[in-house]
Amino acid sequence: MKKYILYLLLPSFVLTLFAVNMGFSHSNSAPVIDCTSCHQGKLKTDIVSISGLPKAYEPGMTYKLTIKISSDLEAMGESRGGFALQATGGKIVITNKKDTQYIEKFLTHTLEGSKSRSWSFSWQAPKTGDEVTLTVMAIASNGDYSAVGDLIGAQSYAIKALKK
Ligand code: HEC
Repeated sequence: MKKYILYLLLPSFVLTLFAVNMGFSHSNSAPVIDCTSCHQGKLKTDIVSISGLPKAYEPGMTYKLTIKISSDLEAMGESRGGFALQATGGKIVITNKKDTQYIEKFLTHTLEGSKSRSWSFSWQAPKTGDEVTLTVMAIASNGDYSAVGDLIGAQSYAIKALKK
């Protein structure tokens, strides 16, 4: 399942190479959801988690969620981490404008938010009752202002609606 997600994300690789060539730099947000296309750190899927998610959601209900990175990796600079999150349904609601922002199709950290390793937001479940997948990719950074030596985590959650 997790491998499958990475394959889905592969097309972004080409775009990413382009961005790298242009000297893209971004402690202030993630350019695409697939961090591994630039960050060559170790992929340790279980360092990232989302808390506050229900096992099954109540259609239309809003849930307060928190993305958290657990890692011993120490940061020598200001940047401690970052993330990108995508939901296939419902609505992502920003609750902390200082640390998070919505860019194109995903939620990501701001420059201020890269000093943290946990980020909160809300998610309003769809009214239709469709199954939704939330995918998050996050980085525990070593704060050296480079894409090297960081740890990468990825996690995805499939949530169905409560049966009435
Ligand atoms: C286009 C290539 C590229 C992609 C894709 C990418 N990054 Fe980066 N990232 C970089 C580069 C280059 C730097 C170093 C320059 C900088 O700090 O802006 C960096 C730095 C960072 C830093 C600061 C690191 C430090 O040690 O100071 C964080 C945090 C970060 N990225 C998070 C992410 C996350 C989270 C993702 C995926 C959701 C991601 N990045 C995807 C290229 C990328």
